[in-house]
Amino acid sequence: MISNIKILALASVFAVASCSSNDEVVFKNGDGGEPTTPTTPPDNTGNPTAQTLREKASWKVGAAVTTSAIKNEAKYDETLSTNFSQLTAEYEMKMNRIWTSSSSYNWSETDYLVDYAEANEMEVHGHTLVWYQSFPEWFKNANYDSTAFENNIKRYITDVVTRYKGRIKSWDVVNEVFADGGGHRQEGTILPVFNDPIAFYGRCFQYARDADPDAILFYNDYSVVLDSGKRAAMKRMATRFKNEGYPIDGLGDQFHYREVTSKETIKSGFADMVSTGLLMHISELDIRMNTDKSDSYTFTDAEATKQAATYKFIVEMFEAIPDNQKFAITTWGVTDKYTWLTGWWHPKEYPLLFDREYNKKKAYEGFLEGIN
Ligand code: XIL
Repeated sequence: MISNIKILALASVFAVASCSSNDEVVFKNGDGGEPTTPTTPPDNTGNPTAQTLREKASWKVGAAVTTSAIKNEAKYDETLSTNFSQLTAEYEMKMNRIWTSSSSYNWSETDYLVDYAEANEMEVHGHTLVWYQSFPEWFKNANYDSTAFENNIKRYITDVVTRYKGRIKSWDVVNEVFADGGGHRQEGTILPVFNDPIAFYGRCFQYARDADPDAILFYNDYSVVLDSGKRAAMKRMATRFKNEGYPIDGLGDQFHYREVTSKETIKSGFADMVSTGLLMHISELDIRMNTDKSDSYTFTDAEATKQAATYKFIVEMFEAIPDNQKFAITTWGVTDKYTWLTGWWHPKEYPLLFDREYNKKKAYEGFLEGIN
């Protein structure tokens, strides 16, 4: 299935082609005739739900996960495997977790997640090979020049992608290298001076392609649909890759947005991303509600209804793009009990599809309704 998607995408590619501001993160029924009975009982919202997200969608529905929650909470495990068809490691496949020293790797968490996914008929999206925020301390302290830096990055990409060849179906090869507005990100990175950073990123994609020719390769960033300058920089990079023979299959926008984020802006920015002809991944979706970071915020029924409408809007927008560009929608977490936003944004935050007790929220129904 995935390789078919990839072939179609490659054939159609290029018809053309952490946090800062409030919105951004630096971060079937019967066949007619007789009435049918839903195959699963009504959920907590009182609506009959005949299908789960993973059953209804023709593309992958992913979630960011942690091994500890899977191992320690049966409800987390059950909610994840019943509703989602793909997983991303929230942090366990980042460079600082895997590359423990210049001569050692820790594969245990990645092995666990890949085994878990296979046992539950889920695919694995690898996140992420090159991201400045996850360079290990030993690597940062080495102060490599550009040649040594690239030789090490090449070794890392080759070793990781080769080990999980055929099992990790897709990778975010490069994450967040553009600054807000579209320049090259410098602050906080340890990138040595590359005379031509875009060519270096292109070679990173080539190292991944050489290690697993079937892996689907993404560039991932935040605020892509909102920030026209960043989006233009990504499109220029993709066009250059095409012209110079560097591989790239898709683009991800993280989608850490707010319920109040302009839906018109999201829609027009997304259409511009889609114009590249590349695969689309809504890669880290969560919808913040407590916009003012208020200690007295309450997630009322009315708030839940507004959030559901936003999820439905995003899924409908994704469904409307050409089928051969639909890769996946991934939510950045499973349950409001464990969301990075309670640390990074505000303790009172409710951004995901399941509440703290693993009940389906209205947002789940919104997502489900948005699927064709
Ligand atoms: C975040 C995780 O959610 C945190 O647990 C971790 O400490 C830091 O990273 N953009 C990305 C993700 O690409 O990897 C980030 O995930 C969120 C922002």
